[in-house]
Amino acid sequence: MDIRKVGVVGCGLMGSGIAQVAAMAGCDVVVSEESRELLDKGFARIHGSLAKLVEKGKLAAPDAEKTKARLKATTALGDLKECDLVIEVIVENLDAKKKLFAELGRLCKKETIFASNTSSFPICEMAEASGRPERFVGLHFFNPVQLMKLVEVIQAKKTSSEVVAAARAFGEKVGKTPILAKDTPGFVVNRLLVPLLHEAVLMVERGDATAKDVDTGMELGCGHPMGPLKLLDYVGLDTTLFIMDGWYQRYPADPMFKPSELLKRMVKEGKLGRKSGRGFYEWEGDKVKA
Ligand code: CAA
Repeated sequence: MDIRKVGVVGCGLMGSGIAQVAAMAGCDVVVSEESRELLDKGFARIHGSLAKLVEKGKLAAPDAEKTKARLKATTALGDLKECDLVIEVIVENLDAKKKLFAELGRLCKKETIFASNTSSFPICEMAEASGRPERFVGLHFFNPVQLMKLVEVIQAKKTSSEVVAAARAFGEKVGKTPILAKDTPGFVVNRLLVPLLHEAVLMVERGDATAKDVDTGMELGCGHPMGPLKLLDYVGLDTTLFIMDGWYQRYPADPMFKPSELLKRMVKEGKLGRKSGRGFYEWEGDKVKA
């Protein structure tokens, strides 16, 4: 099944990135949000990213204009009914996601494939809520979507092999390398990444090393583009705590999923990382302050 028309529900950081790469790949994209204000904010982010790519010579100016023309904004979910694929990128709240998919299941044509970009919830629960679990798949992108080359394709229990193949082909079409993962906590990347980031928090909490030295260690010792605490700031301390809380509730016997006091305290104090301007580092936009 060739995916030409894509719906993206949610136009935050990840949703706008996914909408952008889909439109850059030639898909017609309908982006839905709860309000015009959120749509304007998301589209401004897309336009800013396209301008950056043009400025760096990575995208021709006419192609940026064509990309913009392929993107449509809406506050009416019904406008997604003819999409070949609808990707959900709303707030990480399972009830809200299930409610959304139940509604999409009623609205969209029967061939539409549904995907969730969740990083914390079981795909199978949303799949059941949609009423078409065989046409439901996880499509997990990475931040910043415009630059990161991976997409995880998550096959839940009932996902058909035809849908997995279509999701993989879509991932390739938007310039990513797909990897196939089962519907387990964290799939492949977050299952490894979140414990790594959290272990770095524990090191700072115990006073084993400073945040700066932990990061320098992993940047120079392992060639990571960002050390774990800078990456934690980049992803968001609240996002990471949310993921760990969810896992810990589901698997209380596994100590690896238990969030540290330091992480909880920083989130409580509003030190969320890049998005709040303060975390383990101070941030100015996308950059750590010198
Ligand atoms: N759109 C377009 N261009 C962008 C951009 C965007 N959104 N963001 C950055 N760029 C461009 C910059 O202009 C810059 O261009 P030039 O090289 O031509 O100057 C280039 O991309 C590199 O950006 P920067 O100079 O700002 O910084 P950098 O070289 O350090 O690269 C990075 C930034 C790609 C983010 C790199 O630091 C990196 O790979 N970090 C790790 C990111 C990572 O691990 N992400 C996964 C997070 S986990 C996740 O997402 C899953 C989850 O569920 C939590």
